[in-house]
Amino acid sequence: MIPFNYLGFFFKHFGTLIYQKKVLEELCIFLKPLPSQASVLDIGAGTGIMSEFAHKCNSELKYVAVDPADGMLKYAPAYVQTYIATAEELPFEDNSFDMILMGESLHHFSNPELAMKEAVRVLKKNGKLFIYDFDVSTFRGKAVCWMEKTLGEPANFYAPYELKKILERHGFTVEIKHYQWRYTVEACL
Ligand SMILES: C[S@@+](CC[C@H](N)C(=O)[O-])C[C@H]1O[C@@H](n2cnc3c(N)ncnc32)[C@H](O)[C@@H]1O
Repeated sequence: MIPFNYLGFFFKHFGTLIYQKKVLEELCIFLKPLPSQASVLDIGAGTGIMSEFAHKCNSELKYVAVDPADGMLKYAPAYVQTYIATAEELPFEDNSFDMILMGESLHHFSNPELAMKEAVRVLKKNGKLFIYDFDVSTFRGKAVCWMEKTLGEPANFYAPYELKKILERHGFTVEIKHYQWRYTVEACL
C-alpha cells in the first residue's frame, strides 16, 4: 500500500505538478455556474489540491474534503473543512453537496462501486462530478496501473469509455475530455 499518511509534505509541495493547466481551466469553466455558497466535496482530497485549484477559480464556494489519511488532510488550507473518512462511507446527509471532485483518487478507492453510490447519495439533484485520472487504455496509464498494483494498491483504473458507462448507470450525464494519457470526466446528475 502507498503510505499516504506519511506523504502529506510531498503532495503539498509537489502534488500540483501532475495537474495540467488545461485541466484546471476546464475545472474553472465547470465550476462557474455554481451559485455563491454552493458546497463542494473533494473526495480522496489528500492535501486538498483540487479544492485549492477550485478555490482559485471561485473563493465563494464552501469547500469540504474527505480522506482516510490524516497525514494528508492536515496540509489542507484553512478554508477547507476536513473529515477523516473514506469514499465508501461518507459522513454526510443525503443531498448535501452541489459538486464533487475526485482528483487522482478514484483508482485508490477499495470499492469504487460503493463510492459512486455514496457520491450519488450526497449529491443534490442536478449535482455535478469532476474526475481527473489516468487513462489505463494508454501505455503510460498501463504503466502507472502496473506500478500501483505492485505497491499493493487497489489500482481501479478505468479507460474513459468504461468509466462513462459506470457513471451513466448511476444516473449521470457524462462528458469525457482527453489529455494524452489522462482524462477528465464532467458529469451531471
Ligand atoms: C494520489 S492521492 C490524490 C490526492 C489529491 N486528490 C490530489 O490530487 O493530490 C490519493 C488519495 O486517495 C486517498 N484514498 C485512498 N483510499 C481512499 C478511500 N477509500 N476513500 C477516499 N480516499 C482514499 C489517499 O489517502 C490519498 O490521499
